[in-house]
Amino acid sequence: MKIWLNGGLRELESARVSVLDHGLTVGDGVFETLKAVDGLPFALTRHLDRLARSARGLGLPEPDQDEVRRACAAVLEANPMALGRLRITYTGGLSPLGSDRGEAGQTLIVALGETPRRPDSTAVITVPWTRNERGAVTGLKTTSYAENVVALGRAHERGASEALFGNTVGRLCEGTGSNVFVVLDGEIHTPPVASGCLAGITRALAVEWTSAQETDLPLDVLDRADEIFLTSTLRDIQAVHRVDGRELPGAPGPVTAKAMRIFDERSGADLDP
Ligand SMILES: Cc1ncc(COP(=O)(O)O)c(C=O)c1O
Repeated sequence: MKIWLNGGLRELESARVSVLDHGLTVGDGVFETLKAVDGLPFALTRHLDRLARSARGLGLPEPDQDEVRRACAAVLEANPMALGRLRITYTGGLSPLGSDRGEAGQTLIVALGETPRRPDSTAVITVPWTRNERGAVTGLKTTSYAENVVALGRAHERGASEALFGNTVGRLCEGTGSNVFVVLDGEIHTPPVASGCLAGITRALAVEWTSAQETDLPLDVLDRADEIFLTSTLRDIQAVHRVDGRELPGAPGPVTAKAMRIFDERSGADLDP
Protein backbone atom coordinates (compact mmCIF):
# COMPACT_ATOMS: atom_id res chain seq x y z
CA MET A 1 0.00 0.00 0.00
CA LYS A 2 1.38 3.39 -1.04
CA ILE A 3 0.21 6.69 0.40
CA TRP A 4 1.07 10.33 -0.32
CA LEU A 5 2.94 12.26 2.37
CA ASN A 6 4.27 15.80 1.94
CA GLY A 7 5.19 15.81 -1.72
CA GLY A 8 5.56 12.19 -2.75
CA LEU A 9 4.37 8.58 -2.66
CA ARG A 10 5.68 6.47 0.24
CA GLU A 11 5.20 2.96 1.52
CA LEU A 12 2.50 3.07 4.20
CA GLU A 13 4.67 1.11 6.65
CA SER A 14 7.56 3.56 6.50
CA ALA A 15 5.67 6.87 6.12
CA ARG A 16 6.28 9.06 9.19
CA VAL A 17 5.05 12.38 10.57
CA SER A 18 6.40 14.09 13.70
CA VAL A 19 5.01 13.03 17.08
CA LEU A 20 4.63 16.81 17.62
CA ASP A 21 2.37 17.27 14.59
CA HIS A 22 -0.47 19.60 15.65
CA GLY A 23 -2.96 17.23 14.04
CA LEU A 24 -1.88 14.57 16.54
CA THR A 25 -1.38 16.68 19.66
CA VAL A 26 -4.49 18.89 19.49
CA GLY A 27 -6.57 17.79 16.48
CA ASP A 28 -5.58 20.88 14.48
CA GLY A 29 -6.33 19.61 11.01
CA VAL A 30 -9.00 19.16 8.37
CA PHE A 31 -9.90 16.22 6.19
CA GLU A 32 -12.02 14.83 3.39
CA THR A 33 -13.26 11.33 2.67
CA LEU A 34 -14.02 10.54 -0.97
CA LYS A 35 -15.48 7.51 -2.65
CA ALA A 36 -13.35 6.01 -5.41
CA VAL A 37 -14.99 3.56 -7.80
CA ASP A 38 -12.62 1.57 -10.01
CA GLY A 39 -9.85 4.05 -9.29
CA LEU A 40 -11.88 7.19 -10.05
CA PRO A 41 -12.77 9.70 -7.32
CA PHE A 42 -16.37 10.92 -7.05
CA ALA A 43 -17.16 14.65 -6.67
CA LEU A 44 -13.47 15.58 -6.32
CA THR A 45 -14.04 19.28 -7.08
CA ARG A 46 -16.67 19.63 -4.34
CA HIS A 47 -14.42 17.82 -1.85
CA LEU A 48 -11.44 20.06 -2.68
CA ASP A 49 -13.62 23.15 -2.28
CA ARG A 50 -14.78 21.97 1.13
CA LEU A 51 -11.21 21.10 2.17
CA ALA A 52 -10.15 24.67 1.32
CA ARG A 53 -13.16 26.06 3.21
CA SER A 54 -12.36 23.97 6.29
CA ALA A 55 -8.68 25.01 6.16
CA ARG A 56 -9.66 28.70 5.94
CA GLY A 57 -12.01 28.20 8.87
CA LEU A 58 -9.10 26.95 11.02
CA GLY A 59 -6.84 29.75 9.81
CA LEU A 60 -4.62 27.33 7.88
CA PRO A 61 -3.26 28.32 4.47
CA GLU A 62 -5.36 26.69 1.74
CA PRO A 63 -3.77 23.48 0.49
CA ASP A 64 -2.32 23.53 -3.02
CA GLN A 65 -5.25 22.13 -5.03
CA ASP A 66 -3.02 20.94 -7.88
CA GLU A 67 -0.84 19.02 -5.45
CA VAL A 68 -3.87 17.45 -3.76
CA ARG A 69 -5.27 16.41 -7.17
CA ARG A 70 -1.90 14.93 -8.15
CA ALA A 71 -1.67 13.14 -4.81
CA CYS A 72 -5.14 11.62 -5.18
CA ALA A 73 -4.41 10.45 -8.72
CA ALA A 74 -1.06 8.94 -7.70
CA VAL A 75 -2.47 7.07 -4.70
CA LEU A 76 -5.41 5.73 -6.70
CA GLU A 77 -3.12 4.60 -9.51
CA ALA A 78 -0.69 2.90 -7.11
CA ASN A 79 -3.41 0.93 -5.30
CA PRO A 80 -6.04 -0.46 -7.69
CA MET A 81 -9.29 -1.54 -6.01
CA ALA A 82 -13.01 -1.75 -6.81
CA LEU A 83 -14.38 0.49 -4.06
CA GLY A 84 -12.04 2.71 -2.09
CA ARG A 85 -12.18 5.23 0.75
CA LEU A 86 -9.80 8.00 -0.26
CA ARG A 87 -8.80 10.11 2.71
CA ILE A 88 -7.14 13.53 2.50
CA THR A 89 -5.73 14.84 5.79
CA TYR A 90 -4.17 18.29 6.11
CA THR A 91 -2.85 19.48 9.48
CA GLY A 92 -1.13 22.42 11.17
CA GLY A 93 2.14 20.45 11.07
CA LEU A 94 5.04 20.39 13.52
CA SER A 95 4.13 22.74 16.41
CA PRO A 96 4.90 23.59 20.05
CA LEU A 97 3.25 21.54 22.83
CA GLY A 98 0.10 23.61 23.15
CA SER A 99 -2.65 25.23 21.13
CA ASP A 100 -0.29 27.70 19.40
CA ARG A 101 0.53 26.57 15.89
CA GLY A 102 4.12 26.25 14.69
CA GLU A 103 5.63 27.67 11.53
CA ALA A 104 7.20 24.56 10.07
CA GLY A 105 4.51 24.17 7.41
CA GLN A 106 1.51 21.91 7.03
CA THR A 107 1.28 18.14 6.75
CA LEU A 108 -0.58 16.66 3.76
CA ILE A 109 -1.49 12.98 3.69
CA VAL A 110 -3.58 11.13 1.09
CA ALA A 111 -4.35 7.52 1.97
CA LEU A 112 -6.65 4.85 0.56
CA GLY A 113 -8.43 1.84 2.01
CA GLU A 114 -10.69 -0.76 0.44
CA THR A 115 -14.27 -0.69 1.68
CA PRO A 116 -17.31 -2.93 1.14
CA ARG A 117 -20.51 -1.53 -0.38
CA ARG A 118 -22.92 -0.51 2.39
CA PRO A 119 -26.22 -2.36 2.92
CA ASP A 120 -29.33 -0.64 1.55
CA SER A 121 -30.73 -0.08 5.05
CA THR A 122 -29.38 0.26 8.57
CA ALA A 123 -30.25 0.88 12.23
CA VAL A 124 -29.48 4.16 14.03
CA ILE A 125 -29.71 5.48 17.56
CA THR A 126 -30.04 8.96 18.99
CA VAL A 127 -27.52 10.10 21.60
CA PRO A 128 -27.99 12.49 24.54
CA TRP A 129 -24.97 14.62 23.58
CA THR A 130 -25.44 17.74 21.46
CA ARG A 131 -23.93 19.28 18.37
CA ASN A 132 -23.01 22.90 19.01
CA GLU A 133 -24.49 25.00 16.22
CA ARG A 134 -22.56 28.09 17.39
CA GLY A 135 -18.99 26.78 17.87
CA ALA A 136 -15.77 28.14 16.38
CA VAL A 137 -15.41 25.06 14.16
CA THR A 138 -19.07 24.31 13.48
CA GLY A 139 -19.52 23.22 9.89
CA LEU A 140 -15.79 22.58 9.35
CA LYS A 141 -14.56 19.06 8.66
CA THR A 142 -11.81 19.02 11.28
CA THR A 143 -9.82 16.05 12.53
CA SER A 144 -11.19 16.68 16.06
CA TYR A 145 -13.62 13.75 15.83
CA ALA A 146 -13.41 12.27 19.32
CA GLU A 147 -17.08 13.13 20.06
CA ASN A 148 -17.99 11.16 16.97
CA VAL A 149 -15.81 8.26 18.11
CA VAL A 150 -17.68 8.13 21.44
CA ALA A 151 -21.13 8.39 19.85
CA LEU A 152 -20.37 5.82 17.16
CA GLY A 153 -19.07 3.46 19.84
CA ARG A 154 -22.41 3.81 21.63
CA ALA A 155 -24.24 3.06 18.36
CA HIS A 156 -22.21 -0.12 17.81
CA GLU A 157 -22.93 -1.24 21.41
CA ARG A 158 -26.63 -0.94 20.60
CA GLY A 159 -26.44 -2.83 17.30
CA ALA A 160 -26.67 0.32 15.16
CA SER A 161 -24.31 1.74 12.54
CA GLU A 162 -24.84 5.43 13.19
CA ALA A 163 -25.65 7.82 16.04
CA LEU A 164 -27.77 10.92 15.45
CA PHE A 165 -27.30 14.18 17.35
CA GLY A 166 -29.69 16.99 18.17
CA ASN A 167 -28.23 20.48 18.62
CA THR A 168 -28.20 22.67 21.74
CA VAL A 169 -31.79 23.82 21.15
CA GLY A 170 -33.25 20.34 20.61
CA ARG A 171 -33.34 20.39 16.81
CA LEU A 172 -32.40 17.45 14.63
CA CYS A 173 -28.82 17.90 13.37
CA GLU A 174 -26.77 15.03 11.86
CA GLY A 175 -24.97 11.76 12.45
CA THR A 176 -21.33 11.16 13.40
CA GLY A 177 -20.44 10.90 9.72
CA SER A 178 -23.68 11.41 7.84
CA ASN A 179 -26.58 13.78 7.27
CA VAL A 180 -30.15 12.80 8.02
CA PHE A 181 -33.35 13.14 5.98
CA VAL A 182 -36.96 12.44 6.93
CA VAL A 183 -40.09 11.90 4.84
CA LEU A 184 -43.24 13.63 6.10
CA ASP A 185 -46.47 13.41 4.07
CA GLY A 186 -44.53 12.35 1.00
CA GLU A 187 -42.11 15.31 1.18
CA ILE A 188 -38.39 14.99 1.92
CA HIS A 189 -36.84 17.25 4.57
CA THR A 190 -33.34 17.67 5.98
CA PRO A 191 -32.05 20.06 8.68
CA PRO A 192 -30.52 23.33 7.42
CA VAL A 193 -26.77 23.92 7.76
CA ALA A 194 -27.66 26.45 10.51
CA SER A 195 -28.57 23.43 12.68
CA GLY A 196 -24.80 22.90 13.05
CA CYS A 197 -24.47 19.97 10.65
CA LEU A 198 -21.69 19.55 8.14
CA ALA A 199 -22.63 20.73 4.65
CA GLY A 200 -22.42 17.17 3.36
CA ILE A 201 -21.64 16.75 -0.31
CA THR A 202 -24.04 13.83 -0.63
CA ARG A 203 -26.62 15.93 1.22
CA ALA A 204 -26.22 18.78 -1.30
CA LEU A 205 -26.54 16.42 -4.26
CA ALA A 206 -29.59 14.72 -2.72
CA VAL A 207 -31.24 18.12 -2.14
CA GLU A 208 -30.48 19.14 -5.73
CA TRP A 209 -31.59 15.89 -7.34
CA THR A 210 -34.69 15.11 -5.25
CA SER A 211 -35.91 18.63 -4.42
CA ALA A 212 -35.75 17.84 -0.72
CA GLN A 213 -36.43 20.85 1.48
CA GLU A 214 -34.18 22.27 4.19
CA THR A 215 -36.41 22.48 7.25
CA ASP A 216 -35.78 23.20 10.91
CA LEU A 217 -36.98 19.97 12.57
CA PRO A 218 -37.37 18.92 16.21
CA LEU A 219 -35.33 15.88 17.24
CA ASP A 220 -38.54 13.96 17.99
CA VAL A 221 -39.54 14.10 14.33
CA LEU A 222 -37.75 10.74 14.27
CA ASP A 223 -40.66 9.27 16.30
CA ARG A 224 -43.17 10.04 13.56
CA ALA A 225 -41.37 10.36 10.21
CA ASP A 226 -42.81 7.99 7.58
CA GLU A 227 -39.32 7.25 6.29
CA ILE A 228 -35.80 8.19 7.39
CA PHE A 229 -32.57 8.02 5.42
CA LEU A 230 -28.91 8.93 5.81
CA THR A 231 -26.55 10.44 3.25
CA SER A 232 -22.77 10.33 3.19
CA THR A 233 -19.91 9.77 0.82
CA LEU A 234 -19.71 6.04 1.57
CA ARG A 235 -23.40 5.44 2.33
CA ASP A 236 -24.72 7.40 -0.68
CA ILE A 237 -28.42 7.31 0.28
CA GLN A 238 -29.10 4.62 2.88
CA ALA A 239 -32.51 3.85 4.36
CA VAL A 240 -33.05 3.57 8.13
CA HIS A 241 -35.01 0.52 9.27
CA ARG A 242 -34.78 1.17 13.02
CA VAL A 243 -34.28 4.30 15.10
CA ASP A 244 -33.78 3.59 18.82
CA GLY A 245 -36.71 1.23 19.66
CA ARG A 246 -38.82 2.22 16.65
CA GLU A 247 -38.96 -0.14 13.66
CA LEU A 248 -39.60 1.19 10.17
CA PRO A 249 -40.68 -2.01 8.45
CA GLY A 250 -40.17 -2.28 4.73
CA ALA A 251 -37.32 0.29 4.63
CA PRO A 252 -36.40 1.60 2.11
CA GLY A 253 -39.92 2.99 1.75
CA PRO A 254 -41.17 4.26 -1.62
CA VAL A 255 -39.87 7.84 -1.35
CA THR A 256 -36.42 6.72 -0.16
CA ALA A 257 -36.23 3.98 -2.80
CA LYS A 258 -36.94 6.55 -5.51
CA ALA A 259 -34.32 8.91 -4.11
CA MET A 260 -31.79 6.05 -4.07
CA ARG A 261 -32.56 5.26 -7.72
CA ILE A 262 -32.20 8.88 -8.78
CA PHE A 263 -28.94 9.23 -6.85
CA ASP A 264 -27.49 6.09 -8.48
CA GLU A 265 -28.45 7.30 -11.95
CA ARG A 266 -27.21 10.87 -11.57
CA SER A 267 -23.96 9.98 -9.77
CA GLY A 268 -23.24 7.25 -12.32
CA ALA A 269 -23.72 9.70 -15.19
CA ASP A 270 -21.38 12.40 -13.84
CA LEU A 271 -18.33 11.60 -11.68
CA ASP A 272 -17.72 15.24 -10.74
CA PRO A 273 -21.14 16.83 -10.38
C1 LIG B 1 -20.09 15.01 10.75
C2 LIG B 1 -20.42 14.65 9.33
N1 LIG B 1 -21.64 14.94 8.84
C3 LIG B 1 -21.99 14.61 7.60
C4 LIG B 1 -21.13 13.95 6.74
C5 LIG B 1 -21.55 13.58 5.35
O1 LIG B 1 -20.88 14.37 4.39
P1 LIG B 1 -20.50 13.85 2.94
O2 LIG B 1 -21.80 13.55 2.24
O3 LIG B 1 -19.78 14.99 2.33
O4 LIG B 1 -19.69 12.62 3.11
C6 LIG B 1 -19.85 13.65 7.20
C7 LIG B 1 -18.85 13.05 6.32
O5 LIG B 1 -18.51 12.01 6.18
C8 LIG B 1 -19.48 14.00 8.53
O6 LIG B 1 -18.26 13.70 9.00
